[in-house]
Amino acid sequence: MKSAEIRQKYLKFFESKGHTIVPSSPVVPHDDPTLLFANAGMNQFKDVFLGFDKRPYTRATTAQKCIRAGGKHNDLENVGYTARHHTFFEMMGNFSFGDYFKKDAISFAWELLTQVFGLPPEKLLVTVYAEDDEAYDIWHRQVGVPAEKIVRIGDNKGARYASDNFWMMGDTGPCGPCTEIFYDHGPEIAGGPPGSPDEDGDRFIEIWNIVFMQYNRDEAGNMNPLPRPSVDTGMGLERVAAVLQHVHSNYEIDLFVNLLAAAAQAVADAGGTPEAGSPSLKVIADHIRACSFTIVDGVVPGNEGRGYVLRRIVRRAVRHGYKLGARQPFLYSLVAALVKEMGEAYPELKRDQARIEEVLKGEESRFFETIANGMTLLDQALADLNGKTVLDGETAFRLHDTFGFPLDLTADVCRERSVTVDEAGFDAAMARQREQARAAGRFKGASLLEYDGAATRFVGYDALTAPAKVLALYRDGKPVETLQAGDEGVVVLDVSPFYAESGGQVGDHGLIAVPNGAQRFAVTDTQKIQATVWGHHGRLEAGSLKVGDAVTAEVNAARRAKTTRNHSATHLLHKALRQVLGDHVAQKGSLVDPDHTRFDFSHNKPMTADEIQAVEAIVNAEIRANAETVIRQLPYDEAIALGAMALFGEKYGDVVRMVDVADTRELCGGTHVARSGEIGVFKIASEGGVAAGIRRVDGLTGEGALAWIQQQLAALAEAAAAARAPVNELPARIVQLQTQVKDLNRDLDRLKAKAASSQGQNLAGQAQKLASGVHVLVARLDGMDARALRATVDQLKDQLKSLVVVLAAASDGKVQLVAGVTADRVGTIRAGELVAGVAAQVGGKGGGKPDFAMAGGTDVAALDGALAAVRSQLVQKLEG
Ligand code: ALA
Repeated sequence: MKSAEIRQKYLKFFESKGHTIVPSSPVVPHDDPTLLFANAGMNQFKDVFLGFDKRPYTRATTAQKCIRAGGKHNDLENVGYTARHHTFFEMMGNFSFGDYFKKDAISFAWELLTQVFGLPPEKLLVTVYAEDDEAYDIWHRQVGVPAEKIVRIGDNKGARYASDNFWMMGDTGPCGPCTEIFYDHGPEIAGGPPGSPDEDGDRFIEIWNIVFMQYNRDEAGNMNPLPRPSVDTGMGLERVAAVLQHVHSNYEIDLFVNLLAAAAQAVADAGGTPEAGSPSLKVIADHIRACSFTIVDGVVPGNEGRGYVLRRIVRRAVRHGYKLGARQPFLYSLVAALVKEMGEAYPELKRDQARIEEVLKGEESRFFETIANGMTLLDQALADLNGKTVLDGETAFRLHDTFGFPLDLTADVCRERSVTVDEAGFDAAMARQREQARAAGRFKGASLLEYDGAATRFVGYDALTAPAKVLALYRDGKPVETLQAGDEGVVVLDVSPFYAESGGQVGDHGLIAVPNGAQRFAVTDTQKIQATVWGHHGRLEAGSLKVGDAVTAEVNAARRAKTTRNHSATHLLHKALRQVLGDHVAQKGSLVDPDHTRFDFSHNKPMTADEIQAVEAIVNAEIRANAETVIRQLPYDEAIALGAMALFGEKYGDVVRMVDVADTRELCGGTHVARSGEIGVFKIASEGGVAAGIRRVDGLTGEGALAWIQQQLAALAEAAAAARAPVNELPARIVQLQTQVKDLNRDLDRLKAKAASSQGQNLAGQAQKLASGVHVLVARLDGMDARALRATVDQLKDQLKSLVVVLAAASDGKVQLVAGVTADRVGTIRAGELVAGVAAQVGGKGGGKPDFAMAGGTDVAALDGALAAVRSQLVQKLEG
């Protein structure tokens, strides 16, 4: 059974059991700051489990794109070394939101595995959480699994609830005991059953995990019961495909066989000699999936957060290609093969193929510039270990800092030679650098507040003021009952007109106060604590504020209006960019605040001035059309069918908000103008590149645009006044002035040369001709630089034929000396010695050749004496 068929059968099976098929959420969970990447099917339902979000269904099933390469669930280290670990994989799941519980969850899984997929029950083995007698009984009594095939696993990871059979999404969030189903690949494969000492072998492989969601773990580690016990399951598609295709390793399933062949070809094309079956090829075939899917969802390689995880994965893949002999980018050329394998199930791959290739190629090229030198350093360091088995942290850090080797990449190389890395030493070196970065103010801590009360009702689409009740207060990140005047803190309200930062639009500012102003909390940011709980950040300016207080919440209307204009303009901008540049333009990020809209989009070259003007013209025409904005709530599928633009940051919930501003249509949760004319005017202030294949436009609207235009014009007027030309003649005037400057410089050079030559002639007259026919000249020419002095010496030599000359110039407390001797006299006097003699008297040093030498000094006051002395010495020596 092919992977695609297994995916389909799973979804259909659960649909037949009353589940709604819900699409995978993006691998980048834009709405959840606690999560780096989607790591399980349940992520998109987190708030449903917690009771903060409601869906029209209580049973759902999905095929979810997952990445486990950072955060709580991280399999990166194992990839290539085991038969079953991946950075990217697909998790099939079925979910019950307060609907069925243990009994049905277990029997659904068993039925699908043994009856639909036809697995022999005797090849299956299960684990249950040690305390979960209920699950044990269901397996044993109702399903009929023999006792020796049911393993109880307790808190085997060193703390309460730290267990292979207690699943947590992350350090906080929904969690609960779980029961897992294992497949026995047979005694010919090494490894023991779960719970045994060699459970990490490849013989018994977990294929399905059923989590009984019962708690919400908070930051303090408390287990708070969920409103309704629920079910979350996960079945690894690749693992089940291996079982059903009668192969042992995931890398032998249909999808991977093709990717591995493509990887071998790509490495060979890049100059390598890959061996079939090499673990490096597996790493490459695995990593291309994680890389491509993260790039699709808007991540670009970078030095922090998700961008750094992507960078690590790309570089790790490149290193494995390098090991096989590749010497130029190759990974990007695998995207086509991936599109072939998975493009049907995930059309976004196909849509973004060119951009994925471009981003990958850029990152690969960068790393290929340093990898060879880095590997040489690392190989040398490893050779120098002389049998020791730990690489020092400083070297690892140097590789990281200078050659772009992420720590796990260095560790990966070391591991091949049975060496480990001193991570503490690396961390220490890293901490130093972090400290510097922190000092430079680059990190902004996002505090995650603990809250399990009621949700906030957002009324801010229609109202800017609302009566509200204080539900919770925080100071220093901890819940408090009261805030006192002067305290910085966070306020949670039952009702709020404040827009909380999301979808690129910043949070509102404003005031939370009582009518007589005795209590006043100035709000300087609004952030979501949870999907439906607003945190109003700010400072209590007067009075004291208690949980339970009745207050009035009032948004700063002027600031909101500016932000709103910018947000609506962003939609117009997005559409205009696609019209002018083409349909490949996709939004890759945006920041909308009162001052501007910053819009990142996929496009691989700078916009021309004409393109920028064309985009501005379209946007402004839509503004002048002054169309009414229409906002509708409707099912996602309908909105898409109506042509709404859905962005990668959208949550594919069932009911969406469709916003029509002028002739645009997007799914959006932001605030918008009532008519497009309110935007006033739109101007692009700048356009530039931010990453490979991604451009950024900075746009302005309304009074911001006007102020910017006025500023530019004022600067222009100032320039025109200074250049004494009307503005429209300024360009010609500037060219004219530049030409003038060039001409003047040329004249100046000519004059300087002339001055030097006439000075030379004057000097020639001052030379003293001795009886032997040789001229002696010692002169001081303050203000001349070394070059001019040298030119003068050359000229004097030409003129006087037989000459010994010393010239000096003083300026800014420094002395410059040169000496020259014509060829006929170098036997008697050497310029080098001559100049050194004078330099010694003015606190300097110098030397040179017999015919010409230079020196410097610092004692200007001693110069005249030194020159007089050298003159008489020379005369004496040459006359005698
Ligand atoms: N969320 C559970 C897991 O990822 C099903 O294993």
